[in-house]
Amino acid sequence: MAIPQEFLSELRDRCDITSLISGYVNLKRAGTNYKGLCPFHSEKTPSFTVFPDTKSFYCFGCQAGGDAVTFVRLAERLDYIEAVKFLASREGMTMPEDGAVDGLAKAKMRVREQNRIAARFYYHQLYSPGGKEALEYLYGRGLTDATIGKFGLGWSPNGYDQLCRLLLSKGYREDEIIAANLGVKRNGRLYDFFWERIMFPIIDLQGSVVGFGGRTMKKDHGGRKYVNTDGNSLVYKKSENLYGLNFAKDSKEGSLVVVEGFMDVITLNQAGFDNIVASQGTAFNDTMARLAMRYSKDKRIILSQDGDAAGQNAIRKSIPILKNAGADVRVLSIPENLDPDEYIRKYGADRFRGLLNSCLSDIEFEMSRIRERFDITTDDGKLKYLNAICPLLGELTKLEREVYAGRVGKELDIDKAAIISQIESGDRKRRYEQKRSQLKAMEAQSSGRDDKLNPQRREHIRATAAEDSLLTALFYSPDKAKHIREKLPPEKMVTDFNRRLYTITLDIIDSGQELSVGTLSSKLTPDEAGAVSRLFNAGLGGMTGLDNIDFYIDIILGEAQKLSADEIAGSSPEALLAMINAQRKKKD
Ligand code: UTP
Ligand code: MN
Repeated sequence: MAIPQEFLSELRDRCDITSLISGYVNLKRAGTNYKGLCPFHSEKTPSFTVFPDTKSFYCFGCQAGGDAVTFVRLAERLDYIEAVKFLASREGMTMPEDGAVDGLAKAKMRVREQNRIAARFYYHQLYSPGGKEALEYLYGRGLTDATIGKFGLGWSPNGYDQLCRLLLSKGYREDEIIAANLGVKRNGRLYDFFWERIMFPIIDLQGSVVGFGGRTMKKDHGGRKYVNTDGNSLVYKKSENLYGLNFAKDSKEGSLVVVEGFMDVITLNQAGFDNIVASQGTAFNDTMARLAMRYSKDKRIILSQDGDAAGQNAIRKSIPILKNAGADVRVLSIPENLDPDEYIRKYGADRFRGLLNSCLSDIEFEMSRIRERFDITTDDGKLKYLNAICPLLGELTKLEREVYAGRVGKELDIDKAAIISQIESGDRKRRYEQKRSQLKAMEAQSSGRDDKLNPQRREHIRATAAEDSLLTALFYSPDKAKHIREKLPPEKMVTDFNRRLYTITLDIIDSGQELSVGTLSSKLTPDEAGAVSRLFNAGLGGMTGLDNIDFYIDIILGEAQKLSADEIAGSSPEALLAMINAQRKKKD
């Protein structure tokens, strides 16, 4: 069965490889990547690395590597199609059957239609006698009719099956109503999914209602505070949604503020802040981070989740993910452990704007968290605090170091220069470690000792190194494909494995597909995918210029020529003569 490219590319796009792999491997953050013990060979120090940027993984120990599909193939021992199915079901995607694509689009459309009907119904109910108490509750929380209308809030009555009957009367089938999460079947009867709840429609970027959150009004929450549409329905993926983005995307503000709940978004909007989204009680993942970045003009994301442990944890988890997506992350701590909604109601919008303008940078947030762990009135506590904080400052630019070292210096009454020199000695250690590990990796490669994938490396160290570099340059800069191909026809590649890789790469570029570890891996065995991942993540920053590329090509061509000369030297005189004649003919 051939799986359509669009489906594969959507699957790759959606799959968060870090979260996938962390189901199998205990991963620790290392710069922008993650490291852990390799699940495919036994080791004591981690050489298994996940690269979120290229959505790939590679083990420097056993050379296993590739994209998410490759990982699943290896970890679950599945073949290609099975692995794609496995991932698709994890991402809640239905494998396309031939001709099923139209059916799927239609089913999605009918869910959206039902949601729109339901939203109208709930809104209408809120303003009918049965919704009086709910409406009063919303007024009591300070909302105006205009705000209720803008966000389409509503009330789901306890009429057992009022909404379902409405939907049935409009021609929607039972199974469709259930698929839309608006009805459930119990004891052979169809009942409304939401009842006696304040309804918050969730609206996507196209402006259609994709789901609902339903909040109880009961003080004890009557079991559950919120009942929500299944976060993995046909049209709604909770893990890819930011509540309120449909409004926030049009904001003139440069930054995007992330709060926890529906009510926070709504109250802040009413108070004049329109750049607010809610993560709906979860931490950010890559998809949400990319989404947020796409819609924040200054690429500044202000995290303002609740002051409780859950909220603070969500912030801590979200910071590296957002930074990885390139965000300038700020953290807004609200005094008295209030949530934004409560704060605005108590102190007003102006004070909240003041908080927004003075919020902590991610570094300050981390520093204050570290600070809480030590008693800096004692010398011992001071030293421990300093030891904990220097590696953090070591990740900063020189200018930032100056600023923060100065601040820490004042705080501890220590000379700033001493702190800077402490940070720098950490740098030297890190740089030394880096060089050492680079050197080790190069040795391993050039001695050919470890290269299972390209066994010819051993005899052709120089050529293979140049081929690797050229392939990496091509991956990073596929726009140079034409130039490279003209200068280096595939048959001139010295090693068989790299020739194959080169040919496949050019094929992918020709077919107009995106060139990624994913598309390449789909054409390779799981073993071979490791090599792709290694090259793709080799980090050839700045080495993709034409002068570098020509340099690699010259080495490869030179080595190829030497090789054919060797072959000639080893042949019989007759063969030699024939070869010379053949070459002469070519020249004529
Ligand atoms: P909160 O408990 O802070 O709710 O959860 P809230 O929306 O701010 O409600 P108020 O202010 O108490 O009225 C924050 C978010 O977490 C999700 C919802 O998206 C909620 O808005 N959540 C919370 C659930 O999905 N289920 C729950 O049971 C609780
Ligand atoms: Mn709240």
